[in-house]
Amino acid sequence: MADESTAIVAREDFPSTTLTERTGLMGKKVTVVGAGFYGSTTAQRLAEYDVFETVVLTDIIEGKPQGIALDLGQSRAVEGFETNIVGQSTGPNGEGYEVIADSDVVIITAGLPRKPGMSRMDLLGVNAKIVRQVSQNVAKYAPEAVVIVVSNPLDEMTALTQIATGFPRQRVLGQAGVLDTARFTTFVADELGVPVRSVKTLTLGSHGATMVPVPSQCTVDGKPLTDLLPAEKIEELVLRTRNGGAEIVGLLKTGSAYYAPSAAAARMAKAVAEDSGEVIPVCTWVNGEYGISGVYLGVQAELGAEGVRRVVETPLVDSELAALKEAAEAVRAKQVDVLDL
Ligand code: LAC
Repeated sequence: MADESTAIVAREDFPSTTLTERTGLMGKKVTVVGAGFYGSTTAQRLAEYDVFETVVLTDIIEGKPQGIALDLGQSRAVEGFETNIVGQSTGPNGEGYEVIADSDVVIITAGLPRKPGMSRMDLLGVNAKIVRQVSQNVAKYAPEAVVIVVSNPLDEMTALTQIATGFPRQRVLGQAGVLDTARFTTFVADELGVPVRSVKTLTLGSHGATMVPVPSQCTVDGKPLTDLLPAEKIEELVLRTRNGGAEIVGLLKTGSAYYAPSAAAARMAKAVAEDSGEVIPVCTWVNGEYGISGVYLGVQAELGAEGVRRVVETPLVDSELAALKEAAEAVRAKQVDVLDL
């Protein structure tokens, strides 16, 4: 029989702590622009972390972000998370963008993915127009946000976003190194038959042809990778890493990868929201580090609430440093082109 005392017991069984009380992340809000596979899986991961008060998902397609948000929200009862998920359609002139106001982090996934045979650079013209428009609306409606770009070609779209938002450079960063490193780690772990957690790898440079996997910094259970695998085998894994996105595009045929990419983007957003100080590889503005200046490039950086706190230089062997400088010049040439797109 339900009397007052059993009612009190029942309430104690289900303590009404809010998300904010549990996580300490006071009302954090993250927006994902673009409800394709990359955007929707990123929103899912962010929601399932259960550390954000609100995850907003937007798209130019009417109904799609609302439908995904509704569906994802209904998974809360099964998966046991409380994040509010909001879906919103948006227009080119900022229609619907009010919903992103006060976002701490905005992740831009808008744009087209590759088809088989295409390089990321083939997307430059079409995605530049989309990313520029999105960036202008983000600047208007979420002027304090840290922006994480994942649209391709990544390094160029990150540079364009900084220009189009006018945000301080530390507040605009790109996702590539976490993904490329995750691929390299997976290939090494599979080759050696060891758990992925025992492998540490690093990739720098561009998210493209001039990606620079860094074998000299890779370890397995703390032992140098270069002591565990012959140079030819390491080179094979390096090439597979550099080609990791295209390998999946070739298999999917109708789009590009999104499970590992969304894991990488969500992880970066979480590091920013938690002001974690984690050092991870990202695409950020380089200003003198490695003797390279004035370009967005994949390097290791410490992340915090303000975006990139600082670039962290890693010791490199001569050939790796030369490859990083080559990557910087290749990216610099293309980043100049985006100004006109
Ligand atoms: C990839 C795309 C998302 O590397 O850039 O899979």
